[in-house]
Amino acid sequence: MATRFRGHVSVEDQPAGALGAAVYTEGVRRVFDQRAVLDGLDLRLEPGEFVALLGRSGSGKSTFLRALGGLDPDVEGTVLVPERRAVVFQEPRLLPWKRILPNVLLGLKGSEHRDRARDALREVGLEGHEKDWPITLSGGEAQRVALARALVREPQLLLLDEPFGALDALTRIRMHTLLQELCRRHRPAVLLVTHDVGEAILLADRVLVLTDGRISLDLPVEVPSPRLRSDAAFGRLRSALLAELGVDELAEGSHV
Ligand SMILES: Nc1ncnc2c1ncn2[C@@H]1O[C@H](COP(=O)(O)OP(=O)(O)O)[C@@H](O)[C@H]1O
Ligand SMILES: [Mg+2]
Repeated sequence: MATRFRGHVSVEDQPAGALGAAVYTEGVRRVFDQRAVLDGLDLRLEPGEFVALLGRSGSGKSTFLRALGGLDPDVEGTVLVPERRAVVFQEPRLLPWKRILPNVLLGLKGSEHRDRARDALREVGLEGHEKDWPITLSGGEAQRVALARALVREPQLLLLDEPFGALDALTRIRMHTLLQELCRRHRPAVLLVTHDVGEAILLADRVLVLTDGRISLDLPVEVPSPRLRSDAAFGRLRSALLAELGVDELAEGSHV
């Protein structure tokens, strides 16, 4: 576990509640322009647990994800996360002047990573594309490169910020299956930020809602596999989550 900001917390100083956790946060606070977007956010994730984070637009989901990624030096509170982390954003963020393999290897030094990067590309179904340029890839393929770049770091914590939000519906379904396979194989703890309630229930072991800077709802997903939207348990959980999000289900239609 590593911590950032407000000094380094040694293993001995760790709060008792953090023992064995993949992620532990306590009292996380982030203020922009005198407004606290995160305000006393407490969370614990277990190793290998897949957790989805829902919240209205502007509720602070990306702010929290950046805090967990160690990308925000100005966050306050306790954040304990593993050293090996990887983040995937909505856009794949590939460097257009680098071919696919160097994009996967970005920031990693040493030839031993090259074989792992090839393996990661194979795992996401892009074997043979090592020398392609990013511009030649479809949106779904580019996002699979972003997943390969995350995988090659063998993360203990995988942070996903609306990673499928820009993809068409069919590609998104394929990406769901791919992500499930990859998580089964590599067992990172996952925090998936999404605004899609159905996606959260399909993929996660547990779903959180962020409201007014804190986790306002934290529910296990107890829908039998294969998870079907037509399942009564699926519908009940979706209703509870939509209510917490303040979404009128009837007005919203069945696509949420
Ligand atoms: N760097 C920043 N400077 C000022 N305000 C910010 C900054 N980043 C985020 N915010 C504000 O914090 C709030 C939460 O943003 P964000 O975490 O991106 O929300 P979400 O991802 O849930 O849509 C928004 O009101 C946003 O405008
Ligand atoms: Mg966001």
